[in-house]
Amino acid sequence: MWTIYTNMTIAKLKIYHFRNIDFAEIEPSTHFNFIIGDNGSGKTSFLEAIYMLGHGKAFRHQLSSRVIQHHQPELILFSNIISPSGKINSVGLSKSRSGDNKIKINNDEGFKLAELAKLLPIELITPEGFDLLNGGPKYRRSFIDWGCFHHYNEFIMLWNNLRRLIKQRNALLKNVHNYNQLRPWDKELIPIANQVSQIRADYINQICPEIIQTGQEFLPEYTLDCQFYQGWDEMEDYAEILIAHFERDRALNYTTMGPHKADLRLRVNNIPIDVLFSRGQLKLLMCALRLAQGEFYAKQTQQSCLYLLDDFASELDLTKRALLAKRLKSTGAQVFISAVDQEQIQSMVDENDKIFHIKSGIISA
Ligand SMILES: Nc1ncnc2c1ncn2[C@@H]1O[C@H](COP(=O)(O)OP(=O)(O)OP(=O)(O)O)[C@@H](O)[C@H]1O
Ligand SMILES: [Mg+2]
Repeated sequence: MWTIYTNMTIAKLKIYHFRNIDFAEIEPSTHFNFIIGDNGSGKTSFLEAIYMLGHGKAFRHQLSSRVIQHHQPELILFSNIISPSGKINSVGLSKSRSGDNKIKINNDEGFKLAELAKLLPIELITPEGFDLLNGGPKYRRSFIDWGCFHHYNEFIMLWNNLRRLIKQRNALLKNVHNYNQLRPWDKELIPIANQVSQIRADYINQICPEIIQTGQEFLPEYTLDCQFYQGWDEMEDYAEILIAHFERDRALNYTTMGPHKADLRLRVNNIPIDVLFSRGQLKLLMCALRLAQGEFYAKQTQQSCLYLLDDFASELDLTKRALLAKRLKSTGAQVFISAVDQEQIQSMVDENDKIFHIKSGIISA
């Protein structure tokens, strides 16, 4: 039923001084990898280290210094990443307490985080990931922008420019008295805002049917509706919106409308899903979104991304766990799954998979 794409996989991973992991070296399976350990043993830390390798930052911690092991000056991550063509890229990332990143790819330095992210696309499913559905719009924007980043080469530059321009505009709002003083700024902002919105809308148009279909598979009793809000009324011209809201923006020192306010609105029979769904159902839908996105990425690029699932079993009953596992297996992707108990994952394990145990930050196969 599903096509299996060529894998992009981590063949080797070394972790130095990451939270309670002093040192770990593993050779993961190209299929499923299970990380089993008690509470506080370091499972999330292990997944967070892999995530950092693909993003330059941790998923639970804004401040990098928090994930550097106590009493150590820096953390170091190293991996061999095998691309679908068989090319081995050796990737190294170090982070110091002052926040300096050093990225090495195939022994060359000076790479940007975006280059790392392109090399190691990751879909993350964690208990905190509920934010995607019941948190503010910024979580859904980052979901949309993950796809835009991976599918539209021009997006990262537009997005960086947009952020800079909105920031400058907000700072300027404190000092201007009439709209004409802002006009030159907005002349630059408007086309970029329109381009960012257009890319997002295009991506969402393609991904929404996939989200709805995966949602249906996981929660067959509901029909999901998925709408993109670009950050202002789509019938209105952004230039006119900026003029019309100038006085309000000036009073608030903040640009109240624009692509920085975009959202993906998910509803069932016009009821927002965060109001309607139970926690288990929200988790399933969150998984549906991530899987649909990962599968779409695989279809477009002919290579699968990596999946990280922290605390796999939480909130899900046995049937739903099996459903999620089956769907994940069908991707053929490399997957890392943490669980507190081997029993929770036993039915998913097959001969290509590896099980790792972690205790006080020490990992054993
Ligand atoms: N900077 C740090 N240096 C050393 N140890 C740390 C650091 N930050 C956190 N820790 C410790 O790392 C341990 C592992 O935390 P982690 O969240 O990875 O556990 P876990 O196995 O995911 O637990 P749970 O099952 O409860 O989710 C914790 O006991 C924590 O106190
Ligand atoms: Mg954990």
